[in-house]
Amino acid sequence: MFWNNKVCWITGASSGIGEALAKMLYNRGARVILSARSEQKLEEICSSWDDKERFMILPLDMSDHDSLEQAAETACRKWKRLDLLVNNAGVSQRSLAAETDFSVMKQIIDINYLGAAGLTREVLPFMIKQGSGIIAPVSSVAGKFATPLRSSYSASKMALQGYFDGLRAEVHEKGIQINLIVPGFVRTNISLNAMNATGGKHGEMDPNQDSGISPEAAAEIILKGLEKNKREIYMGIAPKVKLALFLSRFLPSVLARMLRTAEVK
Ligand SMILES: NC(=O)c1ccc[n+]([C@@H]2O[C@H](COP(=O)([O-])OP(=O)(O)OC[C@H]3O[C@@H](n4cnc5c(N)ncnc54)[C@H](OP(=O)(O)O)[C@@H]3O)[C@@H](O)[C@H]2O)c1
Repeated sequence: MFWNNKVCWITGASSGIGEALAKMLYNRGARVILSARSEQKLEEICSSWDDKERFMILPLDMSDHDSLEQAAETACRKWKRLDLLVNNAGVSQRSLAAETDFSVMKQIIDINYLGAAGLTREVLPFMIKQGSGIIAPVSSVAGKFATPLRSSYSASKMALQGYFDGLRAEVHEKGIQINLIVPGFVRTNISLNAMNATGGKHGEMDPNQDSGISPEAAAEIILKGLEKNKREIYMGIAPKVKLALFLSRFLPSVLARMLRTAEVK
């Protein structure tokens, strides 16, 4: 079994894709480190897990960059190895660029990009010394093309693409694999938790997420992709997203025109 005894650290493990990944990894015999801001939710998730020696709850706010070094040190010290870091914690956006507070733009970049890149930077020396490791940033199709109401969110995910493409080349010879996870629509609380123009919660279920694949199906695809070391792992790609991905690559000006009138919620 690929994941048996592996040490796997999941950020954003209190909900959605991260929660499903943490549960699946635990059920497959991994030692799991769960991080998110909500310690209580993490405790609820683990409350039915029998083997108390096989998980650790490590509360963490990805926008508190000064705490990342200590968190990485705690995680790496626990079992003296780290096989997988899934940089999954993230927040989405529902606001026009012109109306969005600068503090909201900064928070989205701080959590989605700088948090993920910063935490990665902290575990890299440990993984390099270990001679192995998997780092999996969770991006989005919004990291491939941008839509209205998601300008800062897209920027944060496109930044992940750039950072981790560069890193992949740097660490290839050191036994470390970088796998970018690219969800389309997964049925989670992401739109409910998305930030509005002033940093409040959007609070509405997006019909796209509502009709998306389950977090468990996403987790299954992610773990398979990591096992096969797929450079990019796609899931929940609805036909209209597939078309947009194609156009963004081969006919970007056509996509740009279509997006002017696209119905985005
Ligand atoms: N669902 C989709 O359709 C979809 C599509 C594309 C990409 N994604 C990406 O998938 C990832 C997971 O999202 P999800 O869909 O599972 O949404 P979710 O249910 O809202 O989960 C988001 C997770 O991120 C954590 N988080 C948010 N802000 C944080 C912070 N400052 N510090 C630490 N943790 C934080 C949340 O925990 P706390 O609130 O407890 O901190 C929660 O565990 C995100 O990166 C998202 O951008 C999702």
